[in-house]
Amino acid sequence: MSTSSPRLLVTGANGQLGRLVIQQLLTRVPASQIVASVRNVEKSRGVLPAGIELRQADYGDAASWDAALQGIDRVLLISSSEVGSRVAQHGNVIHAAARARVQRIAYTSLLHADVSPLGLAQEHRATEALLQASGVPFVLLRNGWYTENNLMGIGDALGRGVLVGGSGEGRFASASRADYAAAAAAVLAATDSPAEKIYELAGDDAYTRAELAQEVARQAGKPLAYQDMPEAAYRDLLASVGLPAPLAAMLADSDAGAARGGLFDGARQLSALIGRPTTPLAASVAEALKA
Ligand SMILES: NC(=O)c1ccc[n+]([C@@H]2O[C@H](COP(=O)([O-])OP(=O)(O)OC[C@H]3O[C@@H](n4cnc5c(N)ncnc54)[C@H](OP(=O)(O)O)[C@@H]3O)[C@@H](O)[C@H]2O)c1
Repeated sequence: MSTSSPRLLVTGANGQLGRLVIQQLLTRVPASQIVASVRNVEKSRGVLPAGIELRQADYGDAASWDAALQGIDRVLLISSSEVGSRVAQHGNVIHAAARARVQRIAYTSLLHADVSPLGLAQEHRATEALLQASGVPFVLLRNGWYTENNLMGIGDALGRGVLVGGSGEGRFASASRADYAAAAAAVLAATDSPAEKIYELAGDDAYTRAELAQEVARQAGKPLAYQDMPEAAYRDLLASVGLPAPLAAMLADSDAGAARGGLFDGARQLSALIGRPTTPLAASVAEALKA
């Protein structure tokens, strides 16, 4: 394995975060050093820049990772979107990385995963334990909430004049996907990184859902009230508008966790890592209202 021009592999590279990471990596290293692992190579060709090597691998297929990680020095493991199957899936990548003697794995975990009240943290905690046991030097990118999550369906909310949620007075120190992608690229491209580094990554500023509603109303020039609901009522409401039951439960649980402070962090490690302020809420709201 080369150390002068190490090869960097990004998993889930065709996803929303993965594409932004690849863009950011291209500002730091030549395309020849970047490898994108994807489930479906044909589907991914059009969405990733030319000049990036694509390798097929499925989180569920352990053997595919032995092939995909050949000659790879550093890996960004973007957590799978298949909630419930993620520990075994991530384990397939981590065990193959140990066999391939990869020099570093960075993993997109969840903010304060070790103590987080969010149910989503369980699979991240278990993955972090697998990394710890693997012997592969690792960096934990404990990502906070994407601001984009909180702006999904904002047009419908404006139409009704009501934004519903279950996060109470909980503050979201969220950041944009692009901010988290910049951090992941910085860590993957870094030539020197201590083994077992943990970053708690969150936005510079934090807001409650009521404050989010106020900002949306201000920019849209229309009233938008925030209506807070108990967890079970919010879950049932999400299910009643067509969300699959497990997704409705996960979102309501995450809001309940946010109400308990689970998505807040004030240490500003993300802006320190990327060397610029995180994307302000007002800019993300403006972007969402354009869409
Ligand atoms: N912090 C937050 O607020 C937050 C919010 C949402 C998600 N997340 C986590 O962050 C991750 C990245 O977010 P995102 O917005 O980029 O999600 P996304 O757009 O849904 O991308 C998920 C990626 O995972 C890949 N993937 C799923 N199952 C796979 C499998 N079995 N084998 C190989 N690849 C597989 C997908 O590939 P295909 O295109 O082939 O399906 C896709 O590239 C998510 O997967 C989730 O774990 C965090």
